[in-house]
Amino acid sequence: MTGNRLTAQGLTLAYEDRTVVDGLDLKVPDGNVTVIVGPNACGKSTLLRALGRLLKPQRGAVLLDGTELSRIPTRRIAQAVGLLPQTPVPPEGITVAELVSRGRQPHQKWWQQWSDADETAVARAMERTGTAELADRPVDELSGGQRQRVWIAMALAQETDVLLLDEPTTYLDIAHQVEVLDLVRQLNRERGRTVVAVLHDLNQAARYADHIVAMKAGRIVAQGAPADVVTAELVEEVFGLASVVVPDPVTGDPLVVPGPPRGAAPAERAVPGQTAGTTPAT
Ligand SMILES: Nc1ncnc2c1ncn2[C@@H]1O[C@H](COP(=O)(O)OP(=O)(O)OP(=O)(O)O)[C@@H](O)[C@H]1O
Ligand SMILES: [Mg+2]
Repeated sequence: MTGNRLTAQGLTLAYEDRTVVDGLDLKVPDGNVTVIVGPNACGKSTLLRALGRLLKPQRGAVLLDGTELSRIPTRRIAQAVGLLPQTPVPPEGITVAELVSRGRQPHQKWWQQWSDADETAVARAMERTGTAELADRPVDELSGGQRQRVWIAMALAQETDVLLLDEPTTYLDIAHQVEVLDLVRQLNRERGRTVVAVLHDLNQAARYADHIVAMKAGRIVAQGAPADVVTAELVEEVFGLASVVVPDPVTGDPLVVPGPPRGAAPAERAVPGQTAGTTPAT
């Protein structure tokens, strides 16, 4: 049976007086890849930030190993949970190697600033993300995709048991998207790391997730195995999009093809003044 080191209970998150996430309960399955999906502005990043203690709950709590995050020293959290935000901002003028090295801060001790373990972790993280050849380049001179891989390297160098990734494939071309997702899966499978990622591509979500959480307007609408969650009904409910879900020809996972089924009435897409489902007079 899988445990749940990271959980949210009755979690309500707000910016000033605007509630974004409302009374949400979540048990993140240990050693699994959990993918959060949902429309823009439904609260995915807000939830992820709260799971990484970047945002304080208005009500309810996030618990790590049964203790509220607010009661755990920052350093202990940083040793256990790594977070890659949706749009991280690099310190001005920092080089790739320096930025990736910052991932090691939670592991450094006052009597030893830099250890062999730090060196190895940074080198490995850069190698696995294909960023080693960028080591001496300033981060702000990189392309969007290169930069994204550097941030991923930094999160990997932190070597946490739990990794929270907010849209890690943003800016990446399709080959690098697959590479990063394969890497995430590999870390999960080899090291039993728990991953929670926000992804927009439902088909990638279905392929890489063990557990999918579908959100809408600050609430969880459905969660479970991709085959149970990714259905045409759910896509309609969550995104308001008609689609056909077929088996992915490569993996057999659900594959969402937008558009109503062939031959179906083009409901909801009716031209103004025309009744949905009727044939226009010619
Ligand atoms: N720092 C902030 N201050 C005020 N409101 C915010 C802040 N960050 C997010 N919001 C609002 O909270 C809501 C949820 O935002 P959030 O970033 O969690 O959405 P999301 O699901 O991650 O969307 P996207 O898919 O576009 O990244 C939005 O209405 C957004 O405008
Ligand atoms: Mg977001």
